[in-house]
Amino acid sequence: MPIAQQRIRCIAIREPGPPSVLEPAHQAERSTPPGWVRVKVAASGVNRADLLQRRGAYPPPPGVSPTIPGLEYAGVVEEVGDRCRLRAPGDPVMGILPGEGYAETVWVPEDQTIRVPLGMELVEAAAIPEVFLTAWDALTRQAGLVAGESILIHAVGSGVGTAALQLAAVSGALAVGTTRSPEKLERALAMGLAHGVAAREGWVEQLGALAPGGFDVIMDLVGAAYVSANLGLLAEGARWIVVGVPGGSTAQVEFRTLMARRARIQGTVLRARPDHEKAALARAFERRIVPLFEEGRLRPVIDTILPAEEVSTAHERLEASDSFGKLLLRW
Ligand SMILES: NC(=O)c1ccc[n+]([C@@H]2O[C@H](COP(=O)([O-])OP(=O)(O)OC[C@H]3O[C@@H](n4cnc5c(N)ncnc54)[C@H](OP(=O)(O)O)[C@@H]3O)[C@@H](O)[C@H]2O)c1
Repeated sequence: MPIAQQRIRCIAIREPGPPSVLEPAHQAERSTPPGWVRVKVAASGVNRADLLQRRGAYPPPPGVSPTIPGLEYAGVVEEVGDRCRLRAPGDPVMGILPGEGYAETVWVPEDQTIRVPLGMELVEAAAIPEVFLTAWDALTRQAGLVAGESILIHAVGSGVGTAALQLAAVSGALAVGTTRSPEKLERALAMGLAHGVAAREGWVEQLGALAPGGFDVIMDLVGAAYVSANLGLLAEGARWIVVGVPGGSTAQVEFRTLMARRARIQGTVLRARPDHEKAALARAFERRIVPLFEEGRLRPVIDTILPAEEVSTAHERLEASDSFGKLLLRW
């Protein structure tokens, strides 16, 4: 069939609204630009940002369709553009996207692709890019977590939280996690979390008892709701890195506490970064983190894999905070 007549299956947002506004649709085929590859997608990851985009509250960067959500994929390279050197047709790859990831075919700059760990199923690999890139970049490259330090991970049963707890263990740090769900706490402890605390009455005191000098790093996946707790749990020289704000994005901060602790609050985001930074991150991740999956020291944590057509169910589950680890859509 001529390229222009081929149509690619995808999931589109009919109009801003609840999960039911997501529906199967088709995209037109495109040509593959120089330096880019076309990937036949095995599975797409579902992320919190997709929920916001579905509601019309998170416009994608310029040039990216607002109606097709999706920030990550794993699949096989089908075609390489001119001047590609890194990838060849048939290579299994995974990676992040600025959007349009809920589709059976995606186009990506080849230097932003990451090779799939040897021996890993392609569908499983779709659970890696967004959460492990985010957690690794935040913990080690930005917060500078090192062996022997303590880290507090809020929403530890989330996709990013389950990646962070594994990366903390690999770094030789002592990881303590919180979640509102006792069941998720049990599962995180079974995965190697050193200590867990349910976010309910008395939890800040319990955390204080676990780390009397405070935590060296706070991985904040909740935001405003936990700000006053975080302020009371900072070690001297602590790094508090804000990655997600489902618990609100506006809060009052007692700066004197921050000053007294000589602590730092830092925010981070992946989606809005320029291409050259995403490429540098992908290359470093492939070199340093992919081998850890091959050695069995890290693993993707998958809550549920659904057929892509059941995307509304995936959004409902994520929205209800019922999932532990990642939700994936299989093509
Ligand atoms: N900055 C970036 O580049 C970047 C990249 C990826 C993700 N993120 C953000 O990081 C966060 C985690 O992402 P994810 O995909 O791992 O999320 P996820 O799997 O959907 O988990 C989010 C968890 O946050 C907790 N939560 C939700 N609302 C809350 C509230 N009001 N108060 C306290 N806890 C609440 C829930 O855990 P419990 O109920 O079990 O405690 C929920 O399961 C999200 O906010 C996401 O948007 C940011």
